[in-house]
Amino acid sequence: MVVKSDDLRIEALDHPTEGMVSSVEALLARCNGAEGLELPLDLPPPQEGIHGIRWIAAFAGSSLVGLAWIQGSNDPEVCGMVDPGCRRGGIGTALLRAAATLCRADGSSSVTLVCEAGGVSGRAFVEMKGGRYRFSEYRMAFDRTSIARTEPLTLGFQLDLAGPDDAPLVASLTDEAFGDHTWSPSGIEYEMKNLVSRFFIARHGHVPVGSSRCVAIGSQVYVTAFGIAPRYRGKGYGRQMLLRLVGVLMEEGQGQILIEVDTENRAALSLYRQCGFKETRAYRFYELSLLGSRDHLSGERVRQ
Ligand SMILES: CC(C)(COP(=O)(O)OP(=O)(O)OC[C@H]1O[C@@H](n2cnc3c(N)ncnc32)[C@H](O)[C@@H]1OP(=O)(O)O)[C@@H](O)C(=O)NCCC(=O)NCCS
Repeated sequence: MVVKSDDLRIEALDHPTEGMVSSVEALLARCNGAEGLELPLDLPPPQEGIHGIRWIAAFAGSSLVGLAWIQGSNDPEVCGMVDPGCRRGGIGTALLRAAATLCRADGSSSVTLVCEAGGVSGRAFVEMKGGRYRFSEYRMAFDRTSIARTEPLTLGFQLDLAGPDDAPLVASLTDEAFGDHTWSPSGIEYEMKNLVSRFFIARHGHVPVGSSRCVAIGSQVYVTAFGIAPRYRGKGYGRQMLLRLVGVLMEEGQGQILIEVDTENRAALSLYRQCGFKETRAYRFYELSLLGSRDHLSGERVRQ
């Protein structure tokens, strides 16, 4: 389908409206189906935005022909898709340009573009736009038939659900584990209060040794920000924390349990594999500068 520039409307949204969710699902299924992808888009229930995700929709008349989504505001991650029948007409470029404008307005000087390692169009697009490859991550899914839970649990080791008063402790454990300041106590408290995420603290003999975050989206639950403070590593605490966490999630009857890990992080990869997780997908992350020449974001090629 050729989309004329007059017909194309680009619209930023805090969340897809109730009526739009089924169009987004259908577009996602067409884009995934065209290249055998599993694009990293988790749809919230209608009217419930997930904290930190913004959407940019491309409409041709009243049909949804493309969507980009921006996750986070510190180092925003951007991904997008265009209906297979409307590609190579500049819609992807228009969506990326709109995402870049929003991120620049938030004070970002660069964005991280995400595409699936096995996707031909996404990689070609991102590389053509000047994205600089940084790293790749595996998405791993917990295999319920694995023997992971037969592991003996260490005495005196416990996993506690963190409450708002624990937010500063979670922030400092996360800082220690990852060596960055991605999580602020107020951000953690915000997520807890808005029921977006749950945070857990691992303790051995009452000493906090690590923490993790769980985000439930639809029938899936993501384990993220999983870390043991460096001085407590090498003692088996990571395995204990993951086994307890998986145990809690399974007892709750959660659907698929997912975890994402840098493909170069040998220690984490081997821990997750030992605990019953298996790689299902790989994603590539690119840095795209929003400074200097904006040529790579131009390309007003929607057919006239
Ligand atoms: C990536 C995607 C969003 C691009 O959408 P689009 O509307 O086709 O993008 P544009 O028309 O603006 O393309 C801009 C340029 O990207 C490059 N490009 C895009 N798709 C390409 C492909 N399949 N092969 C080679 N180059 C490609 C080209 O240089 C193109 O310019 P040209 O058509 O003048 O040669 C779309 O292909 C898609 O939905 N892919 C699946 C989802 C995905 O992988 N998303 C990750 C991207 S963040």
